[in-house]
Amino acid sequence: MRAADLPDDLERVLYSQEEVAHRIDEVAAVIDKDYAGRDPLLVGVLNGAVMTMADLCRAMKIHCHMDWMAVSSYGAGTRSSGVVRILKDLTTDIEDRDVLIVEDIIDTGLTLSYLVQNLRTRNPRSLEIMAMFRKPEAISAPVDVKYIGYDIPNEFVVGFGLDYAGRYRNLTDVATLAEHVYK
Ligand code: IMP
Repeated sequence: MRAADLPDDLERVLYSQEEVAHRIDEVAAVIDKDYAGRDPLLVGVLNGAVMTMADLCRAMKIHCHMDWMAVSSYGAGTRSSGVVRILKDLTTDIEDRDVLIVEDIIDTGLTLSYLVQNLRTRNPRSLEIMAMFRKPEAISAPVDVKYIGYDIPNEFVVGFGLDYAGRYRNLTDVATLAEHVYK
């Protein structure tokens, strides 16, 4: 579904499907170069990173492997608390692997900070992060993000895998929500 299919729900489009696709191609080209000859393991964080993962790995021109984790972050409303529970763990042993975490969006960075700590204990050869979107607060988070799609304003956004109350993940553009949807 495109933004034009939801004229009443969205406030403004931040990035069109075409812009997102172009940015993914650019990030994929950098990853190709950095990981040439290394067959990285991309670890997608369910559910939000499904679209980023699918588009990123298909834009890459080197071999890669894929695995998934699902985590739940306990917080009040839309804020995360940093207390994270693993709902689905990796099926791959990451010891001595080049691991690239693929995340949809970093807000406080608390979820990723937990994930990085957890995966480090499994002794990967390298561990880096690609996040499609990053909000300002994440700049002060204790995680180094190597690859970023876009730095965005501190607003709640939907589309390209990002949901509000389970909806809008299949919106191909990235947009902010109209107030009446969440008030
Ligand atoms: P953090 O731990 O605060 O960085 O939270 C990251 C998670 O919160 C993301 O993986 C998303 O699931 C969710 N999230 C944060 N901001 C947004 C947003 O603007 N739209 C949709 N989901 C968001």
